Amino acid sequence: MSRSQRKGRERDLTPSESRPVAPDDPLAPFAPVREEVVVGDLRLEIARPPSAEDLIDEDDYARDERLPYWAELWPSAHVLAAHLAAAPPAGRAVVELGCGIGLPSVVCALGGACVLATDWYEEALAFTAANATRAGARVETMAVDWSAPPPALLARPPADLVIGADILYEQRNGPAIAALLPRLLAPGGEALIADPRRPHAAGLIDPLVAAGWRHDVDEVRHAGRIDESGPLIRLHRLRPPGGAGPRD
Ligand SMILES: C[S@@+](CC[C@H](N)C(=O)[O-])C[C@H]1O[C@@H](n2cnc3c(N)ncnc32)[C@H](O)[C@@H]1O
Repeated sequence: MSRSQRKGRERDLTPSESRPVAPDDPLAPFAPVREEVVVGDLRLEIARPPSAEDLIDEDDYARDERLPYWAELWPSAHVLAAHLAAAPPAGRAVVELGCGIGLPSVVCALGGACVLATDWYEEALAFTAANATRAGARVETMAVDWSAPPPALLARPPADLVIGADILYEQRNGPAIAALLPRLLAPGGEALIADPRRPHAAGLIDPLVAAGWRHDVDEVRHAGRIDESGPLIRLHRLRPPGGAGPRD
């Protein structure tokens, strides 16, 4: 996803069912909108900023080409959330990578999982926490950069399930996540990554398969609003070979 593709996509945004939030809302500085999102039997109100483009910070971009992709709900998040709503990971320890505004994390928590949602944008974590609270769910959050994971993340008990939606859009992402997953997953755990067939997905899948991980993939047609990547979303399921390996 290039910067120009992203801008083109945002011009197509048509927030449906949106309305302003009350001024005493903790997210008020963002002037967020809330959209009703239906996931299986769940009807959730999810808050997000009105325009991701308005949040672009030229200093962030100059430093590490960071762009505020967190501020939208991407089709992969809908597909991943629907999958998790249909098969709730009740009682499992779940870590979401690149949570954005947190829909899959909220759905996991409502399904009885113990959830840690992570992103490298603090603002994304604030929206995720608020969206969880509004849904009546408890989601813990932590600032995490995949290429420099904090000791507090690595010191946690291993996760049964690591999830992520549309996190493989840049070449650098796959290798960073491939290095991180073995450090997060419990033996017998799995990762579930939803991806809209981005070419850079191979940067995650190939090294893990070469290291003996099992890889299964399903392709799901997303019925809602689509972006330049089209309506087909791949759900990659990755399982480590007989254990997750050393965590540090
Ligand atoms: C395309 S957005 C997807 C957001 C959300 N998962 C969804 O599908 O709606 C990619 C997400 O990954 C996060 N991200 C990108 N690079 C990251 C990194 N190196 N470490 C942690 N998070 C990162 C972004 O901030 C953003 O929230």
